[in-house]
Amino acid sequence: MGQKVGLIGCGVMGSALMSGIIHNNKVLPEDVIVWDISAKKLEETRDRLKVKAAANNAEVLNFARTIFLAVKPQDLYAVLEDIKNEIEDRHLLVSAAAGIGISEISRIVGSEKKVIRLMPNTPCLIGSGMIAISPGPGIEVKELDYIEELLKPLGKSVVLDEKFMDAVTGLSGSGPAYVFMFIEALADGGVKAGLPRDTALLLACQTVLGAAGMVLKTGEHPSVLKDRVTSPGGTTIAGIYALEKKSFKGTVIKAVEAAVKRSKELGREREDKGWKRKPEDI
Ligand SMILES: NC(=O)c1ccc[n+]([C@@H]2O[C@H](COP(=O)([O-])OP(=O)(O)OC[C@H]3O[C@@H](n4cnc5c(N)ncnc54)[C@H](OP(=O)(O)O)[C@@H]3O)[C@@H](O)[C@H]2O)c1
Repeated sequence: MGQKVGLIGCGVMGSALMSGIIHNNKVLPEDVIVWDISAKKLEETRDRLKVKAAANNAEVLNFARTIFLAVKPQDLYAVLEDIKNEIEDRHLLVSAAAGIGISEISRIVGSEKKVIRLMPNTPCLIGSGMIAISPGPGIEVKELDYIEELLKPLGKSVVLDEKFMDAVTGLSGSGPAYVFMFIEALADGGVKAGLPRDTALLLACQTVLGAAGMVLKTGEHPSVLKDRVTSPGGTTIAGIYALEKKSFKGTVIKAVEAAVKRSKELGREREDKGWKRKPEDI
């Protein structure tokens, strides 16, 4: 399915997405067109990726079949209004905008148009991301497979019903921030125990990376792996006891729960206020 690909919004996520796709030869640079309202970002992306730069949204749709939408959620309304009359049956819209549902996109562009929704996270910037993919109505398996293949260089992906997107946001979307805090805390613990700061940070990072890798590679439940390194009366159980006295697991569960709740609230707020506003009011 060699296709031409377009990107609207060359910011942090859009650039990461297109860099990964091009640098891993999923699409040739000459088959990619990008557009951004900011001339500086447009030129920088064009020069760095050696792709075509469009003069407007319409040119992206004219050239490409698969269009990644990577503008901020509050800017998506204006983009959709601008492109809705240019969208043909051959087009596949792939939106990365957090909190904007497929039905909201379809309401503007038309329910017969093909839409896929993504929820990526920041480690996509280094090819170690997690992306949830939700297909809209009418998306064929081969189209979904094509998008999964394109996104492979950015990390792992999972196809999920859109009803799970708030849960995904609370876990893998917000999750990197929780893990950054955990890494910082581990390193602080090492510094408290006398380690130099840079050594402590390296130890903390590699420990988190290695532990995550073990869960993924062995397929064992984390509790089984934990039990294996917890000798009776040893150091690890002393550390685990200190964590559990402060409800470590309960606190992390509550963090995910709070983020999911906030994601739902933001979605409702956007529908009530922002999303229903006309483009000129945004
Ligand atoms: N960054 C992440 O880690 C992450 C994670 C998950 C999901 N996402 C989603 O990815 C999307 C992009 O996020 P981001 O962090 O990459 O944002 P960003 O860095 O601000 O990039 C968005 C780009 O779109 C441009 N833009 C605004 N209005 C436009 C228009 N009408 N036509 C064309 N371009 C326009 C912006 O230009 P100006 O700067 O001039 O406005 C900016 O260059 C968002 O919807 C976000 O929810 C991001």
